[in-house]
Amino acid sequence: MPTIKAAILGFGTVGEGIYRILNEKKQEIKRQTGYTIDVTTILVNDIAKERMPTPGVQVTNNIREVFEQPQLDVIFEAIIGEEPAYTYLSEAISKGYDVITANKAMFAAHGPALLQQAEVCGIEIGFEATTAGGVPIIQTVKNLLAGDRIKRIQGILNGTSNFILTQMRQEGLSFKAALKEAQALGYAEADPTDDVSGKDAFRKLMILSKLAFGKQPVWETIDIQGIAQLTHEDIIEANRGKLRYRHIAEIQIDENGNLSGSIGPVLIGANHPFYGIDGVDNSIILDTEYLGALTLTGPGAGMYPTGSAMINDLIQIVNTRKRELISS
Ligand SMILES: NC(=O)c1ccc[n+]([C@@H]2O[C@H](COP(=O)([O-])OP(=O)(O)OC[C@H]3O[C@@H](n4cnc5c(N)ncnc54)[C@H](OP(=O)(O)O)[C@@H]3O)[C@@H](O)[C@H]2O)c1
Repeated sequence: MPTIKAAILGFGTVGEGIYRILNEKKQEIKRQTGYTIDVTTILVNDIAKERMPTPGVQVTNNIREVFEQPQLDVIFEAIIGEEPAYTYLSEAISKGYDVITANKAMFAAHGPALLQQAEVCGIEIGFEATTAGGVPIIQTVKNLLAGDRIKRIQGILNGTSNFILTQMRQEGLSFKAALKEAQALGYAEADPTDDVSGKDAFRKLMILSKLAFGKQPVWETIDIQGIAQLTHEDIIEANRGKLRYRHIAEIQIDENGNLSGSIGPVLIGANHPFYGIDGVDNSIILDTEYLGALTLTGPGAGMYPTGSAMINDLIQIVNTRKRELISS
């Protein structure tokens, strides 16, 4: 049986999700691609940390040992921050490995360079998991671009912010109390600054901008507001008027190709598609020239939704490679 050899960089929530799905869906993946996926190496920070057992897999904290693996085909990347992730993926591409990443901080900043490098080297990059977790927004945008034009993107792109706003409205909590609950339930990071400041939503918006419009705006031109300044009274007042606050990231392109966008809390009425999006879900509206408005909603994070988005990327990449082989 032909085998694809894979490495996983990072074995936290997402990395473990990838490994679990590859094991649980082994037969399904084989049926869909014709290949068995064999994880040969896992890269972590701390090799002494107790983890789920991964029999037969080399666990290392040395990236050289990953790159020394014979016949590696694909690298899954689920570590934190821009570096060393960018350097690792750039090297992976130059060595001829396809890459699949969930790392939005890295991909918002370095995705344009990696995509350019990948095109030159004939490498595929999967990045569905960087934006809205399990919502297949990247693939949907790619499909739409084949015969349509996207004019505007609006999104609830941070599940933690949406959960906090929901709890403030439904349970009458203060921002602080709702954030505490989000942390207790594992929705918010121990350091939730990027979530509640709008920075996380901004990164996802920049990834979507590059994909949908072929470019990103100058980052400093985008006004980024978080939700921390909203009080319980603001929420109640809005509710009285049958309005709801949603944290919305938005970008549009004008007829001259100029981009403009903003990120922050917006008051919306019951006729807006985001009105009913409560809890940790993400939701995105794509305004297109021919199709009109298309809304996608689903889980924006988590081990299985995010891991599953990355496995779908893998299946797409393997099938693209098979088509290339047939046509060459
Ligand atoms: N969690 C989600 O639902 C979600 C959704 C979409 C995207 N993402 C993105 O996916 C990535 C991973 O998130 P996560 O939630 O899985 O994080 P996590 O649970 O904190 O896991 C991070 C993993 O990366 C490893 N790591 C960190 N820095 C490293 C380095 N310099 N070299 C080698 N390994 C390193 C850590 O090693 P140790 O285990 O040894 O500490 C850990 O295994 C992030 O970029 C995140 O933004 C996450």
